Amino acid sequence: MTGDLAEVRERLRRASSVCALTGSGISAESGLPTFRGVNGLWRTHRVEDLASPAGFARDPLLVWTWYNERRAAHLRAVPNAGHVALAALERRSTDFTLATQNVDSLHLRAGSVNVLELHGHLREARCDRCGARVPLDGELAPDAIAHVCGGRFRPDIVWFGEALPRDAFARAAEAAARADVVLVIGTSGLVEPAASLATRAPRGDAFVVEINPEETAISRHADVALRGTASDVLPRLLAGESETAVAHGGSMP
Ligand SMILES: NC(=O)c1ccc[n+]([C@@H]2O[C@H](COP(=O)([O-])OP(=O)(O)OC[C@H]3O[C@@H](n4cnc5c(N)ncnc54)[C@H](O)[C@@H]3O)[C@@H](O)[C@H]2O)c1
Ligand SMILES: [Zn+2]
Repeated sequence: MTGDLAEVRERLRRASSVCALTGSGISAESGLPTFRGVNGLWRTHRVEDLASPAGFARDPLLVWTWYNERRAAHLRAVPNAGHVALAALERRSTDFTLATQNVDSLHLRAGSVNVLELHGHLREARCDRCGARVPLDGELAPDAIAHVCGGRFRPDIVWFGEALPRDAFARAAEAAARADVVLVIGTSGLVEPAASLATRAPRGDAFVVEINPEETAISRHADVALRGTASDVLPRLLAGESETAVAHGGSMP
């Protein structure tokens, strides 16, 4: 791990362009459950009831009850050292793009700026008929689901079977194709087309780094796999005094 860390650090230092792809694993240490993990959200809920247009059409109130709870959990959560390290990496990079599958807004709250939210976010609700948006500061009340146009407000996220926001995905694909270093953090790589940003989009000579405690569908596409958690590994990739302190005080072998 130490040799790999040093190589990734050096690659990042030399890179003119860096692209990071994150999944729910980076927010696990902020207390938000991943999708497929031991406490994963889909173990306790049926996807087709909660995260599909058909489920929403059947029972919008059930869907909103669930997303109101998730939004409240996002607001209670605090960005962890992994989110913070990515924001710091962006500040010292000339060309840095962060494409995330997460809808929890933690990257923005950690200070990342060039963030592409591939699966949307929960800061707004969007009318499923006319596209009008309303901010979601707290909960969306049951009597606020109906819009005057006859449509219904739904979470502004991408559900199973739906297309990704075209512009965000196109920009992410360009960033992955341009990058000298691609960091793939906390994603199982099972959800397409997001996973293709790590497997198909990078150039042949790009250096692909996976950061995940477990092997994934991405692993065989990676040049290096740093097997650890995002909040432990990412701060170690940043050179400088604070990084030295982490290296001495950290728990990684
Ligand atoms: N926080 C969120 O916004 C959130 C939460 C749950 C699911 N999702 C959704 O999940 C779907 C995609 O699946 P995914 O690949 O993001 O999640 P996933 O559940 O399929 O995979 C999570 C991955 O994170 C890894 N992981 C767990 N703890 C980690 C840690 N501390 N550090 C680094 N990696 C860790 C796991 O080994 C696993 O490979 C997306 O559609 C996304 O919108 C988002
Ligand atoms: Zn409307």
